Amino acid sequence: MTAQFEYSTLAHPQDIKQLGTIFEQCFISALVGEKAYINLIGIENFRIIRESEQLVGGLATLNMGQWWGGVRVPMTGIAAVGIAPEYRGSGAAIALMQQTLKELYVKGIPLSALYPAVQTLYRKVGYEQGGSWCNWEVPTKSIQVREQPLPLQPIVGINHQVFHQLYQQQARRTPGYLDRHPAIWERLIQPDEKETFYAYFIGTKEQPEGYILFSQHSTDDGAILRIKDWVILTAAAAQTFWSFLASHRSQIEHVRWRSSLNDSLTLLLPEQSAKLKHTMRWMLRIVDVVKAMEMRGYPSGIETELHLDIQDNLLDGNNGKFILSVANGRGEVTKGGKGELQLDVRELAPLYTSLFAPYHLQITGKLHGTETAISAATQIFAGSSPWMADFF
Ligand SMILES: CC(C)(COP(=O)(O)OP(=O)(O)OC[C@H]1O[C@@H](n2cnc3c(N)ncnc32)[C@H](O)[C@@H]1OP(=O)(O)O)[C@@H](O)C(=O)NCCC(=O)NCCS
Repeated sequence: MTAQFEYSTLAHPQDIKQLGTIFEQCFISALVGEKAYINLIGIENFRIIRESEQLVGGLATLNMGQWWGGVRVPMTGIAAVGIAPEYRGSGAAIALMQQTLKELYVKGIPLSALYPAVQTLYRKVGYEQGGSWCNWEVPTKSIQVREQPLPLQPIVGINHQVFHQLYQQQARRTPGYLDRHPAIWERLIQPDEKETFYAYFIGTKEQPEGYILFSQHSTDDGAILRIKDWVILTAAAAQTFWSFLASHRSQIEHVRWRSSLNDSLTLLLPEQSAKLKHTMRWMLRIVDVVKAMEMRGYPSGIETELHLDIQDNLLDGNNGKFILSVANGRGEVTKGGKGELQLDVRELAPLYTSLFAPYHLQITGKLHGTETAISAATQIFAGSSPWMADFF
């Protein structure tokens, strides 16, 4: 089926223009279609697919990292998968994704993540739900946190470099967090023509304990303060974060921010007035089983072995039996073993990220295993609810 398609990089000016036009039609938004988006991501990071020499679609690859068990694992994000409407339904998107994944495997990239418009497509090439993306909202008047242990320092002339060090400290401790692609940073701090961004360090300039970046908008339901990005590294910073937001209550009706499905920040609020406004799950593909399991960190203090039997219909090197031995917070993989936990590479994603416990994956028929294997997997992949703040 894939033989009729030709996969390649993007180089010719004519192709760049045509891909821009296809994206514009596919995503109904000038932003993605714009040449500016292609330039921001980098022309060399796009892949295209042709049918009978005709360019029919393409996608963007964002080479970055993702934090698992306190360690950054290389991860390629996939964005802007688009096929011209007249070529849809003939397997072009599948062929494009298959070729991209084969290329990532050859390059030694262990993981790939994406936000699905349709899950079916990505499941067919080995992606499964990996973690959450959540928007929270709280009425400003209900925050009622008054004490403000730390000062706030306005940041003038916002550039993203000033945030990196603080961000990295939070990312390391947050399973699923991105080591952001420069294009994600750029878009994060780039207000559109109707917006103004405000940024503050929480704490002193010399020793900040977090930061907050936000914009303010009038809506039909009153004014909202939209937090674009935040980092909170200490209890004093968390308290200050809320008291600073509460101080906007005379004009701002609601505050919106992105956080985990189990948002610990809301523990500081007197009542359960914060609501999950919108949530969706991003998908993960374990591209290289051995590298993905060896490069990440694991809970320290456990010493155990998991015997896996994995099936991967696309990337042959992932097929077969593996032993994952975990000790001192690190994992080692050897070929062979008893194959006590049997699963498709797709189902390895929610196990790897701790989105679902092995027991729950078992009772939904996503994996099969002996009691020993389920118990070992439960110890190894014990983790908090994985999430990321960025949509790409
Ligand atoms: C989504 C999109 C990329 C699919 O392209 P395509 O070339 O038609 O996809 P394929 O022919 O390779 O389809 C492969 C599988 O994906 C699934 N699929 C494709 N389009 C789908 C849709 N609109 N809804 C649900 N499943 C879909 C099907 O399972 C299909 O397999 P099947 O035909 O055997 O059932 C295309 O419709 C598109 O460009 N849409 C607009 C942009 C967009 O939404 N992109 C996705 C961003 S995450």
